[in-house]
Amino acid sequence: MVGVETSTSETLTPIPLVNLHRQIASLQEPISAAIAGVMSRADFIHGKAVAEFETAFAQWVGLPYCVGVGNGTDALTLMLRAAKLPEKSVIVTTPMSFIATTEAVSAAGYQIAFADIDPDTYGLSASALESVLAEQRASAILPVHLYGQSCDMLAIMELASRYQCQVFEDVAQAHGAKLNNQSVGSFGRASAYSFYPGKNLGAFGDGGAVVTADPDLAEEVRKLANHGRLSKYEHLCEGVNSRLDTLQAAILQVKLACIDQWNAQRRHWAAQYHQMLADVSEIKLPQVLLGSEPVYHLFVIQVENRDALMQALKQQGIASGIHYPIPLHRQPAYAHLNLPVGRFPNAEKLASQALSLPLFPEMLEEECLRVVQALRTFYGYSPL
Ligand SMILES: Cc1ncc(COP(=O)(O)O)c(C=O)c1O
Repeated sequence: MVGVETSTSETLTPIPLVNLHRQIASLQEPISAAIAGVMSRADFIHGKAVAEFETAFAQWVGLPYCVGVGNGTDALTLMLRAAKLPEKSVIVTTPMSFIATTEAVSAAGYQIAFADIDPDTYGLSASALESVLAEQRASAILPVHLYGQSCDMLAIMELASRYQCQVFEDVAQAHGAKLNNQSVGSFGRASAYSFYPGKNLGAFGDGGAVVTADPDLAEEVRKLANHGRLSKYEHLCEGVNSRLDTLQAAILQVKLACIDQWNAQRRHWAAQYHQMLADVSEIKLPQVLLGSEPVYHLFVIQVENRDALMQALKQQGIASGIHYPIPLHRQPAYAHLNLPVGRFPNAEKLASQALSLPLFPEMLEEECLRVVQALRTFYGYSPL
């Protein structure tokens, strides 16, 4: 049970941040059939479902190549390794992401540089990026489409061309998000996806993929992800074992047919929150970049009194989350980069004020309304 053990929370049905049970229940039959198909073929490693999903997913993103791998972190790492940038190349990314983004930069043998975020749309700020690129030679830019919204890719691509950088996209939180009708993940040289269960397209375990229009990069990722293999026992280099599991691919293939509808439902709930909280001046709602079609992996508001609000929501049985409480440049793991408090003020402010509200496609009208009423009551606004 979510919430403090009070009489209020005990009598209310909990509202989680994400409810996977409803989604699974709605797909019980086709997913069971897909799993039965894998069992009957017993092609558990690199099976038919993997190739089928790779083809379908690449097509859905709008690019020719997709290579399934073990998880989103490996997708990022192998994509960056496959790019073969000069050793210790600098890659500029955001301080507001999950640590997998920067772990991948280091694991691939490159150096991390940060540029601050845009305070309204939370993605890499083009002007902050330009200052960093003007100051130091960077080989690549790694934007993260945080919470399901596209970064300002037109400005980022222009800077990349001006400063001769390659662009790689972290799309772990933004399957299907668009900017000017173009899918995120199709702007740069390649992009990395995660199919962690809670993502917009989630497996029943770990999974990930690299998507690209570059056949050489795709082939290199495939080789690296499979022990550097050319044929069964001929290894061109040392790689890793990072496979998209066949069962996961079969499940993802079923879910891929639903994702556009799920993303539309996510946008519906986001619009409801926007509409019903518009007058609550204490809440900063997520702003949408012009031309952007977000997919609301998370619905993140900014508030000053976050702890008290979280507690009040918890008492109403409403879950909330913080994505992320410590920006990457302030993580102990990056103490060696010597980046002090105040270095990236927009990221630091978001980290101290961000609060994720429940949002998932199968949410119910009354659940959305209960979250809204709890927020309105907390700030002393009349209920709707
Ligand atoms: C922005 C971002 N990048 C990368 C990852 C890593 O994905 P995975 O958990 O599949 O390794 C995540 C997952 O949480 C993420 O949110």
